Amino acid sequence: MSLVKWIDFQVLGDARGSLVALEREHNVPFEIRRVYFIYNTAEGVSRGYHAHRKLRQVAVCVAGSCTMVLDDGHKREEVVMDTPTRGLLIEDLVWREMHHFSDDCVLMVLASELYDEADYIRDYQKFVTERCK
Ligand code: TYD
Repeated sequence: MSLVKWIDFQVLGDARGSLVALEREHNVPFEIRRVYFIYNTAEGVSRGYHAHRKLRQVAVCVAGSCTMVLDDGHKREEVVMDTPTRGLLIEDLVWREMHHFSDDCVLMVLASELYDEADYIRDYQKFVTERCK
């Protein structure tokens, strides 16, 4: 099964422009406890390189573009994030990396839990051991 799970958002648009609403249980399948966004990323920088033990996230590229790599220890999949009209659902214990940020990229992430450094696995071999046990 693919690690890439897109959620397509309904776009509420009219002559003034477009609007997307994100709502718990409606188009985001968890209670949203935290929102953060990554922007102003310096040229050539990649981010992520970690997994979470117990955290669900929906990533939305609200402007610009970047690529997201998802890895479950067996397979590695890469997707281009370049539209605010869909979100990428990232489940527990998935290694993620973000690359190729455009200058104008704003990557917004909705998260099911508050920030907790103890939930991070930042070592790939440790991640594979935890994921595959
Ligand atoms: P980090 O998770 O390493 O960023 P990325 O995975 O995108 O490379 O986070 C960078 C810094 O920001 C780190 O010091 C932790 C801090 N941080 C918070 O305080 N709260 C948060 O919600 C997040 C995501 C990070």
